[in-house]
Amino acid sequence: MKVAIIGTGYVGLVAAVCFSEMGNTVNCIDIDINKLTKLQKGISPIYEPGLNELLIKNIKSKNLFFTDSIKNGICDCEVVFIAVGTPMDSDGSANLDAVFSVVKSIGKHIIHKSLVVTKSTVPVGTTYKIKELINVELSLRKLDLEIDVVSNPEFLKEGSAIEDFMKPDRIIIGADTIDSFSKMKQLYAPFFRTHDRFITMDVLSSEMTKYAANAMLATKISFMNEMANICEKVGADINNVRIGIGSDKRIGYHFIYPGVGYGGTCFPKDIAALIKLGNDKGFHLQLISAVNEVNEQQKIYFLEKIINRFGENLEDHIFTIWGLSFKPETDDMRDSPAIYIINELVKRGAKIRAYDPKAMKEAQEFYLKNVNNIEYFDSKYEALQRGDALILLTEWKEFRSPDFSEIKKQLKRYIIFDGRNQYNAFDLKEMEFEYYQIGKK
Ligand code: UDX
Repeated sequence: MKVAIIGTGYVGLVAAVCFSEMGNTVNCIDIDINKLTKLQKGISPIYEPGLNELLIKNIKSKNLFFTDSIKNGICDCEVVFIAVGTPMDSDGSANLDAVFSVVKSIGKHIIHKSLVVTKSTVPVGTTYKIKELINVELSLRKLDLEIDVVSNPEFLKEGSAIEDFMKPDRIIIGADTIDSFSKMKQLYAPFFRTHDRFITMDVLSSEMTKYAANAMLATKISFMNEMANICEKVGADINNVRIGIGSDKRIGYHFIYPGVGYGGTCFPKDIAALIKLGNDKGFHLQLISAVNEVNEQQKIYFLEKIINRFGENLEDHIFTIWGLSFKPETDDMRDSPAIYIINELVKRGAKIRAYDPKAMKEAQEFYLKNVNNIEYFDSKYEALQRGDALILLTEWKEFRSPDFSEIKKQLKRYIIFDGRNQYNAFDLKEMEFEYYQIGKK
């Protein structure tokens, strides 16, 4: 099939390489010429396991093309995906400027019957607005073309995006016509080897499914963070409680890890958009608002552990940060808890020595660009030198079982604040470490 994907961010680019890997011809369209130049050379603008290899392979086999022209990119395609960003506006709503600008252009240039699919996370009702806008453009062109719209939300996770796209738990298709459902099924069929996992429904429910899924996952995390905090008060251990409750099939072991709060692009943005959507309809989402508040509080709660130990004035203190990205296996720092923690420590006079396997360039060039008193190191052990404490913020694999005697050699004081509960408290106590974790006193 010939497919166009507009937007080469996480979702668009991953979808493009995966569809092309399955033998489709994919045109990727973006307005960022620098990005396109890199992509054409097979250089991915983001770090994502497996992405670069598939990118190079499918460019070579002439399944994957890049252009900045919507007109050229969509002209011979049967399916056009919209995968541009929907960032958070100051009032919490999803900013749809990029979506509508792309849609206008589709309406201006589309020349034959096609499916227009919303892959971007959009407020409920947007897919129908897209159809209206395209029809306005078509009537201006006096063109009698039937354009069907489909909602096909994406559930991939950063860090395992290719794997998630290639082996999806389910494909949600929200559409109005049998033809649309069958075209979408045809496109996705190669991703299911044994049995398909299509879930078909109406457009509005499909758009809502994406928000509900993210809200549910964020709720699990905030719930566990709240349980962790009460565990500390009563002397219980959240790690035991997690295993205890996860064994109940109705609860399950996934997504119940307490930590320093969720970050990334999706949860904070989609939760805010959902709350705003409710407010616009005169409905206050009580539970989801609390999920957001607990998440904000969690970062402060972790910071307070450090301040309670060292005091408000952190001048003459050096802290080593392990992990800057919002989660492992990505260089993405958007809404990473590390940004908040580092800024608060520096504000109090502390010096930071930081290490992350992939996100240091992002930190230096964007997210911590204006922060003084931060140094970056190529080795996690070098970053420990003269440190008053090690603060672990992202659970990269290489932090899981470090050489603790080396840590002791480098640190000035044997103190670890673990925001991801990676270590065994008993072992660390034996090694004379002062160990602070989440959900255990
Ligand atoms: C999420 C959804 O999982 C995905 O389906 C959607 O398409 C986009 O948003 P992503 O943001 O890439 O994906 O990462 P995810 O693995 O879900 O983690 C989100 C945040 O939650 C991270 O900050 C992570 O550290 C945190 N988290 C996750 C926890 O604190 N505890 C957990 O048990 C799981």
